[in-house]
Amino acid sequence: MTNPSYAFQTFDPGFTGTTPSAQCTPIYLLTADSITFEDEQFEAISLRAKNWIKASNFVGAGGATLLVPDDEGLLSCVVLGLGPAQIKDQDPLIVGVLPQTLPNGDYRIAYGENSVRDHGRDALAWALGSYRFDRYKKMATAHPKLRIDHGVANLEELLALARATAFGRDLISTPTNDMGPQQIAEAAQALAGTYDVPCRTIVGDDLLTENFPMIHAVGRASDQAPRLVDFSWGSKSNPKVTLVGKGVAFDTGGLDIKSAAGMLLMKKDMGGAANVLALASAIMATDLPVRLRVIIPCVENAISGSAFRPGDVLTSRSGRTVEIGNTDAEGRLILADALTLAGEDEPDLIVDMATLTGAARVALGTDIAGLFSNDDGFAAGLQAASLAEADPLWHMPLWQPYKKLLDSKIADINHIASGGYGGAITAALFLSTFVGAETKWAHIDLMAFNPTAKPGKPIGGETQGMRALYSHLKQLYAHGQ
Ligand code: BES
Ligand code: MN
Ligand code: ZN
Repeated sequence: MTNPSYAFQTFDPGFTGTTPSAQCTPIYLLTADSITFEDEQFEAISLRAKNWIKASNFVGAGGATLLVPDDEGLLSCVVLGLGPAQIKDQDPLIVGVLPQTLPNGDYRIAYGENSVRDHGRDALAWALGSYRFDRYKKMATAHPKLRIDHGVANLEELLALARATAFGRDLISTPTNDMGPQQIAEAAQALAGTYDVPCRTIVGDDLLTENFPMIHAVGRASDQAPRLVDFSWGSKSNPKVTLVGKGVAFDTGGLDIKSAAGMLLMKKDMGGAANVLALASAIMATDLPVRLRVIIPCVENAISGSAFRPGDVLTSRSGRTVEIGNTDAEGRLILADALTLAGEDEPDLIVDMATLTGAARVALGTDIAGLFSNDDGFAAGLQAASLAEADPLWHMPLWQPYKKLLDSKIADINHIASGGYGGAITAALFLSTFVGAETKWAHIDLMAFNPTAKPGKPIGGETQGMRALYSHLKQLYAHGQ
């Protein structure tokens, strides 16, 4: 039994533009020493409130919130701690703690007259923090609402990014029994349908006739046939940007089976696909002047008699043979065939996104995604954009001398490195051999999941690098428009 087609969930960013300002509970932002930054606001707070803040031992620690009552015990204002006095030292999404902590109601942020805060960033943080994955909850809880009035110039764009984030998070957090290879493909088809563009899907044994042998080999052991989704959008005269996402609906590890702990979260192994679809939705919603192509190989790395094996030698779409060192390194195999396809129409840029290695998580932790590129200038620009957007990526090296670790005795290449050190780099190097040297390419190795809650980042599926890429693509291609 398969579940019905993918239906877009509605996402409420938790904004109000209609409630009059005077009816909204003010939120005061205070730094750790409580009275330096934005201090004119602090002066605006009543003596009663100041006493309450003192009595509560509130010292403005980052993310600390305090509800301040009036004479009758009704909510008079909210105080949010920003942490350090310097804005550059604060969590840029700090306002994102509020939607999950405040009681239901209407709020406004009481910015000081000399405030240097980015109102758009605060609004985005609120929207990202308003997200809840409640698909499996009987009772959906009400959201507090933030009044958005002046000072947010690019509200539509910001909403598109918040919506895209929610879309990506929904896809990742949905468990595999409702988000198999078929439903990932349906989500992509539904997105293409929303923008009236045709979507090609190659399913099952057709992958063999269409020459995607490694996507087929990785996905053939599952009850849901492997498939490849491919759609394009936008004017053909615009720069061609091709996005490729790892869509492993679930990663058991294959015959090289994962441990229980290692397998627990593997519904998120389609996080690259989810990020690509989220980014595509933002690009199309805002009409970014690119010719977009989206390629998603969708498989389940399952175990059955037809599973591919350690020691097998696969012939890739490129014609090169690949020795299988470990069936748990499945992502790079499906990406290799997808990247070969991506290069065939010579795009200006290929970006792939993938939950590719545990090694990238060991190196960078769960908050920062690894960025690899055959173009250092592009990587530097993208990393800078990522930091500006509070969506951090860090440039890691495609260290050529490590390529020899991928040597195979019996095939053209092994897909895993001997020794096991530098696993994120060797995985990226493997991918790089399926991208033409003249094609600008970036690879993002991401976690796609928040194991703990942080401001604007609830526990669960997460987009990473999506807003960074959007911002950088806009900078590169929409400049002057
Ligand atoms: N999907 C995993 C990588 C992963 C694991 C990402 C945990 C994020 C968190 C990938 O398919 C995998 O299993 N990679 C192996 C590669 C190894 C067998 C060379 C890994 O990283 O251990
Ligand atoms: Mn794996
Ligand atoms: Zn995987």
